[in-house]
Amino acid sequence: MQTPTFTSTAPRSFASRLTLAAAVLVSLCTASVQAATPSELLQGYTAQAGVAAVAARGQQFFTTTHGKEWSCSTCHGAVPTAAGKHAATGKSITALAPAANAERFTDAAKTEKWFRRNCNDVVGRECTAAEKADVLSWLLTQKP
Ligand code: HEC
Repeated sequence: MQTPTFTSTAPRSFASRLTLAAAVLVSLCTASVQAATPSELLQGYTAQAGVAAVAARGQQFFTTTHGKEWSCSTCHGAVPTAAGKHAATGKSITALAPAANAERFTDAAKTEKWFRRNCNDVVGRECTAAEKADVLSWLLTQKP
């Protein structure tokens, strides 16, 4: 009886096995956490949108209503370097501007999850990549 062997390819050196293991580990980690910087996320949305982000348009989008009861600023406040307050639960929401809150826009999955949920609440649909880029570019101009 023959046991399966993997001799069809040349045996890997220890170093190349180690490199492979490291590469797998890194991709696993990045897949679960999706660590990013705010400017990387902005670059991603801008590339998706195919047009440059406009900070003033982001502010306008954020602080006005879109046919529903709430605007983004209803919960987050119109000054994104300050904490907001959830319109329904009254819970405090930490500042959205990265300069005031280092945790903001550092996890792509988290950012996407909340954009999806909040845009549905405020606009009744998901935000477009251009809308996200506009909002994020405005938030990045805000310093405490
Ligand atoms: C009903 C209240 C509410 C409204 C309205 C709202 N948000 Fe939020 N938002 C939250 C809560 C709650 C969180 C999650 C808690 C946290 O991250 O502090 C959050 C988180 C976020 C995040 C995650 C940021 C990160 O850390 O990566 C983004 C982006 C965001 N909101 C954008 C928006 C935009 C854009 C609008 C308007 C279209 C909006 N929100 C409207 C309550 C709201």
